Amino acid sequence: MTRFGVVRVPGTELSISRLGLGAARLFAGRELRSSAKIVEAALLAGVTHFDTAPSYACGESEVALGELLAGHAGTTITTKIGAYGAIPKKTANAVAYRTLLRPALAAFPALKASLLRLRASMPRAQSIPKAQHILLRSQVTESVERSLQRLRRDTIDILLVHEPAEVLLSDALEQVLIDLVRQRLIKAYGLGYGGPVDAINPFGAVLQCAAEASDRERSPQTNTLRIVHGVLRSPMNAGRDIASLTARARLERALLSIHNGAVIFSASSAAQVNQVALNRI
Ligand SMILES: NC(=O)c1ccc[n+]([C@@H]2O[C@H](COP(=O)([O-])OP(=O)(O)OC[C@H]3O[C@@H](n4cnc5c(N)ncnc54)[C@H](OP(=O)(O)O)[C@@H]3O)[C@@H](O)[C@H]2O)c1
Repeated sequence: MTRFGVVRVPGTELSISRLGLGAARLFAGRELRSSAKIVEAALLAGVTHFDTAPSYACGESEVALGELLAGHAGTTITTKIGAYGAIPKKTANAVAYRTLLRPALAAFPALKASLLRLRASMPRAQSIPKAQHILLRSQVTESVERSLQRLRRDTIDILLVHEPAEVLLSDALEQVLIDLVRQRLIKAYGLGYGGPVDAINPFGAVLQCAAEASDRERSPQTNTLRIVHGVLRSPMNAGRDIASLTARARLERALLSIHNGAVIFSASSAAQVNQVALNRI
């Protein structure tokens, strides 16, 4: 039992902590030490669920979690299939931003908020929706085998179809996932959206998507575990009442809003994890 409480994935014996850490910013290699500080802070605060994907952190996130959670019994991991795309390379500029500029900006939140507002106001190239593609059995099983190797585990707790709008959610794909559960290579499966999701056809027992102000009016579902993300990143898109809240208050509010569900957040330093999660009663 963690101090955030746990939620059960419907139809399974699997429970995860209600507050989870997103590992999209956890790098391995020369940045493993800073990733280790973030993961240790999360574990110390009582967070035992972690969310990753083969494409996160230029492909290094799963490797980092595999190394850092080895020997930590009771931790659970979500990873994903699909949305592989081209994994960006670790450029010197990107590393310098992560290791120098971002921590410096975190110390000046007002300046950081102004820069983010400026960036948000700049015109952006319109993203063209990608055509739906078929995920073949061989692609899914190869991806799961590689994830298990990188994560150093025998079983993946939750496997999500990453950005499902780009994937054909067929009966054949669901059968592949059911077979993986039968083989005990995964414990549960579902869908992982980057944006908000209202209603969709059921696919598995987990629905992960962006948090919304309307989450608090949503009645809990009995057959699907809802996991939300994006609670800290989007205060500028939210109403004034939310934008003025501290990061910790925003997470607390999200945990209260999402009945019988879970919230994942990410952080780029141990200090940020401590601010939102440590000594929570
Ligand atoms: N398709 C999917 O299933 C999907 C899609 C998107 C995300 N996700 C998952 O959700 C996780 C979280 O998503 P997210 O990173 O977009 O959202 P988020 O948790 O809302 O935002 C994280 C950012 O908030 C800032 N932050 C963290 N702690 C803070 C603090 N104490 N004070 C002030 N600012 C703080 C940091 O920004 P700075 O780094 O700039 O300091 C951090 O990187 C991801 O890591 C990923 O695992 C899944």
